[in-house]
Amino acid sequence: MGNLTIDVPVVLAPMAGVTNRAFRRLCREYGGGLFVTEMVTSRALVERNPESLRIVAHDPDETPRSVQLYGVDPVTVGAAVRMIVEEDIADHVDLNFGCPVPKVTRKGGGSALPWKTDLFTGIIKRATEEAAKGDIPLTIKMRKGIDDDHLTYLDSAKIARDHGVAAVALHGRTANQHYSGKADWDSIARLREALPDVPVLGNGDIWSAEDAIEMVEQTGIDGVVIGRGCQGRPWLFGDLQNAFEGSAERFRPGVKEVAETVLRHGQLLIDTFGGDEGKGMRDIRKHIAWYFKGYPVGGNLRSQLAKVETLDQLAELLGSLDQTLPYPGAAAEGPRGRAGHAKRTHLPENWLDSRTLNADHQAMIHKAELDISGG
Ligand SMILES: Cc1cc2nc3c(=O)[nH]c(=O)nc-3n(C[C@H](O)[C@H](O)[C@H](O)COP(=O)(O)O)c2cc1C
Repeated sequence: MGNLTIDVPVVLAPMAGVTNRAFRRLCREYGGGLFVTEMVTSRALVERNPESLRIVAHDPDETPRSVQLYGVDPVTVGAAVRMIVEEDIADHVDLNFGCPVPKVTRKGGGSALPWKTDLFTGIIKRATEEAAKGDIPLTIKMRKGIDDDHLTYLDSAKIARDHGVAAVALHGRTANQHYSGKADWDSIARLREALPDVPVLGNGDIWSAEDAIEMVEQTGIDGVVIGRGCQGRPWLFGDLQNAFEGSAERFRPGVKEVAETVLRHGQLLIDTFGGDEGKGMRDIRKHIAWYFKGYPVGGNLRSQLAKVETLDQLAELLGSLDQTLPYPGAAAEGPRGRAGHAKRTHLPENWLDSRTLNADHQAMIHKAELDISGG
């Protein structure tokens, strides 16, 4: 990708509230790839919001450093990329055009934005110009479109390619689908075919190393982007590296190894949050259900773990598990994390009438960058 070579063609998908420094470290320890931060809004970054500066911070041994930006205004996105270049914050920037959250799409941001080709082009142009000054690759991540009658991915990818992006990642769902149904890998193959001259990364419903290989074989893409499949399973990166290197070896951790990883994750989260134990423990709670999916952990212990407040308490609760229990097999595999139902995307009035912004839309678009997190 641009001047970067990623040895294993795997990307940890940016996930707000998940892919922070702590989780990236755990994943990196198992295998190679590109490990993207949680998304940061360009405006908050430029304004030096402390939480945004925390999000873009990397461990000293993290290389390459990768940041995902979200933005709706060409000037602000350009300023954020410039800041990343001038202050040497990252070696790679990804732009998020896939967020389906109603409060964002209702104002024309996130996955609603590529429909407006003038705005989309403006953002890509400014961002790629600024990234080029620092010779860092800029990529984009998007969905198929708003719904099946309003697909945008082929047009958007062409615009991005024409402005020199280093790769295009496609989540094979429309905004209306949110996380429901199945990701459409055929659309990923179509994109690959339509744009032979830019690296394409495929995303959606990869739950195992075997799925990743299958997506590459089915679609001819250059790499895979994996989100929910890694939740509670940082060792998936070990499996992925093995699979891409042709080895059949897989990580099959028993309860003892999972418990050790959870405790370590908890400690790393406390470090990531500047020593705030309460914050670290509130954060680890959601990961615990993912880590123990399919493992025979009793309801009572699960509910105590879901309320854990200190690292000592976490260690004690994990210590009470039967450490001899092996990997449970199929019960720990398959889909995990967010699913939900399809719903009509909330859009600004008359948004779909034209592919260019009108004056009302222009006046409101900046509001699509306030108080948002997650994609
Ligand atoms: C909890 C959560 C947070 C997410 N946050 C982001 C984000 O910040 N930026 C982004 O581009 N996508 C975000 N996504 C979408 C994922 O990057 C990915 O595109 C999506 O989950 C589909 O891939 P998967 O099937 O491998 O999970 C998020 C998804 C989840 C489940």
